[in-house]
Amino acid sequence: MRILIPGAGGLVGTALRARASASGHACVFLDRSECDVTDPRARSDALRRYRPDAVLFCAARTAVDACANDPSAEAVNVSAPAAWAAEVETWLLSSNFVFGGPGPHAPGASPRPAGVYADQKMRAEAAVLGAGGHVARVGWVYGPNGRTFASTLAARLRAGEAVRALYDVRVQPTWSLDLADALFTMPRGVVHHAGRGEASWYGFALAVWARVRSGTVVPVRLAELGLAEPRPRDARLAPATLPPWWDRVEALVSET
Ligand SMILES: NC(=O)c1ccc[n+]([C@@H]2O[C@H](COP(=O)([O-])OP(=O)(O)OC[C@H]3O[C@@H](n4cnc5c(N)ncnc54)[C@H](OP(=O)(O)O)[C@@H]3O)[C@@H](O)[C@H]2O)c1
Repeated sequence: MRILIPGAGGLVGTALRARASASGHACVFLDRSECDVTDPRARSDALRRYRPDAVLFCAARTAVDACANDPSAEAVNVSAPAAWAAEVETWLLSSNFVFGGPGPHAPGASPRPAGVYADQKMRAEAAVLGAGGHVARVGWVYGPNGRTFASTLAARLRAGEAVRALYDVRVQPTWSLDLADALFTMPRGVVHHAGRGEASWYGFALAVWARVRSGTVVPVRLAELGLAEPRPRDARLAPATLPPWWDRVEALVSET
């Protein structure tokens, strides 16, 4: 397939770039400076120039608390994927956060988002599916070039930080390069991609600390973080099919 990947400058885009040659697809990667997904002219220029069979839509505002106060997040997270899906077969990266209640959640379960970002992802899903596109739900992704907790954990410990890690939230950490390989199979419909291993971030962080041997890991409860927007305590996805995080700790320590 000829696949166009806007929003390619982030964590998932970086992993897709690293795995593209092994995928057998012809990929074009566009970061935000090359294509602002909210700009209709940039969209039509990109579609005309590259004539993709498919779009793997990675662009998003992913800072959950910021989305609640930033009116432009709606354009990136909802209007843009809807507009792209109306023109080309689109695979939307979506989030386990669309599920607010206890998991694990199957692909056919009804979303019940809590919070603005989660609600945006749910409405984007509906728009893309309504246009004949597809949804890949992911969560807790970590890897090179990521801003997520697990992506930055090893570097923060190495720098001697005291890293606060949640012990009352269930997570399925997912190595970005495993996710990239799964995404490149381009499954249709609504699909979940998550690592098979479960943990709390505290347990995960201790396993990383045991290899880095620097900094400290401080257990905290979700309520102690004082976050502006709600976070689900159990947004586990089913089925979870990707390699478990304990098989990727060495890679995390050497590559992030
Ligand atoms: N990482 C996770 O654990 C996780 C979990 C659930 C769902 N997801 C979903 O997976 C997808 C990819 O996430 P990610 O982890 O790769 O996030 P990321 O690292 O924040 O990357 C998102 C990318 O989108 C870009 N972007 C923002 N606004 C844009 C615009 N108007 N036009 C073009 N690009 C724009 C960002 O550029 P700037 O940096 O310049 O803003 C960034 O490079 C998102 O849909 C996200 O909701 C990720």
